[in-house]
Amino acid sequence: FSDSPDQLRKAIRDVPDFPKPGILFKDITPVLADPKLMQAAIDGMIAPFAGQQIDKVVGIDARGFIFGAMIAQKLGAGFIPVRKKGKLPWKTHGVDYSLEYGTNSVEIHQDALAPGDRVLLADDLLATGGTAGAALKLILDSGATLLGSTFFIELGFLEGRGKLPGGGPVHSLISF
Ligand code: PRP
Ligand code: MG
Repeated sequence: FSDSPDQLRKAIRDVPDFPKPGILFKDITPVLADPKLMQAAIDGMIAPFAGQQIDKVVGIDARGFIFGAMIAQKLGAGFIPVRKKGKLPWKTHGVDYSLEYGTNSVEIHQDALAPGDRVLLADDLLATGGTAGAALKLILDSGATLLGSTFFIELGFLEGRGKLPGGGPVHSLISF
């Protein structure tokens, strides 16, 4: 499996001008469709956190659910969804974050995390860091311990990891 990062990189499809002109979209669906690649992606995303007790994996709506849930299963941890505003049925805590134009909001159930929980944050992509930064705030505000964050892809030139202070190590498997 030593060549798997290279195979993963090759499997990510570049889609120009999606969702807007000038954006080069990184399409992960070919990775999702291949069980061996997906296994390698999940193994690579959790490798730096091996040997640590992790109670909960927080995954971010929507693509972070795919990676987060698989990581949680592999670690024997619970899965906690951070969702876009208005999707969670129970009492929530929310936080706003800025996009290129305007703002967005994400929410977590108030009883999802408790002080003492040892948490790993997961998403498919770290770009500007706005989304993960919002999830990080929800986790830290709960009093849980954030052990770190893991991403399948990082767009390093956007310097998103600067938006994740105090959340432990930031790991990404593939960097562009
Ligand atoms: C995408 C991606 C990350 C986020 C990264 O989610 O899945 O969650 O953007 O961008 P950022 O670092 O600049 O915040 P998006 O909300 O676009 O779509 P999704 O619902 O398909 O996950
Ligand atoms: Mg997303």
